[in-house]
Amino acid sequence: MKCIGVLTSGGDAPGMNPAVRAVVRTALSKGIKVMGINRGYSGLINGDIEELTRTSVSDIIHKGGTILKTARCQEFKQEEVRKKAVNILKVFGIDGLVVIGGDGSFQGAKLLSDLGVATVGLPGTIDNDLAYTDYTIGFYTAVNTVLDALNKIRDTSSSHERVSIIEVMGRHCGDIALYAGIAGGAEQIIVPEKDYKLDEICKSIIEGKNSGKTHNIIILAEGVGGANELAKEIEDITGVVSRATILGHIQRGGSPVTFDRILGARLGAHAIDTLIEGRTARVVGIKNNKVFDMDINEALQAKSDFDEDLYELAKILR
Ligand code: F6P
Repeated sequence: MKCIGVLTSGGDAPGMNPAVRAVVRTALSKGIKVMGINRGYSGLINGDIEELTRTSVSDIIHKGGTILKTARCQEFKQEEVRKKAVNILKVFGIDGLVVIGGDGSFQGAKLLSDLGVATVGLPGTIDNDLAYTDYTIGFYTAVNTVLDALNKIRDTSSSHERVSIIEVMGRHCGDIALYAGIAGGAEQIIVPEKDYKLDEICKSIIEGKNSGKTHNIIILAEGVGGANELAKEIEDITGVVSRATILGHIQRGGSPVTFDRILGARLGAHAIDTLIEGRTARVVGIKNNKVFDMDINEALQAKSDFDEDLYELAKILR
């Protein structure tokens, strides 16, 4: 392997920059040239590619977002577009590709590997929705961002003795809601993996009010959605003033926390080792604090591993 390409794709995640830095510097330390592909698969098909040196990735370890930019590329679902991508890789002399992104980005990497490209996927998404790995790069930073917002909302919620509903990201996966909810002492955590009963929530709000509780924080995952509607329903039933806050894209920004920087470094380095050792159509991940790589098809088929124990613990502690 003489030259590898690296791209970031899909929703950005804090920690992508430390991961790119690790990919570049590990490859260079092994005598491999690195090409940065800008704007994900869109940049690949447009030849938006430039060489990366050690200094290209200086002073980025603390920065949110991705220096390579990112995009969601619907065209990549077409085989002729992917064939064009394969030709571009040949033209630039790229013989291995590291894709940093989430589920959709991995689908793209898998399809490229079916066309003979040596690919390795690196999990970069705040959602933590890739079941084959314990954690994805960006998840912990997003949870910290939510926690910071939750703490602030709790102040005003207590002063006004209100119900506060906080909607967080996660279309199919409630991990951001679960982790931020447990860390922030939320009264209710509503996630796509679990049904909830509005009557029970309202009963607990009324009981809490009667026993002198001054606030009620409900953390709601985007996949369930409808924070404003839920606030109205709760207010109508309980008579307690209820407000919704939708945190939105603030959750994708910010300087990566320690965990995401170290995870990006470890997974980025492992991705290069995987390519050098000739393993392709792989993804890298972390389980029980051990970094590993596995077949991309198996990884994409891994079943959701929602943490039931943590969910039950949150109910006990609230
Ligand atoms: O996949 C990450 C994510 O942040 C999801 O949690 C969210 O639903 C989605 O991206 C938003 O995507 P976009 O920024 O393209 O609207």
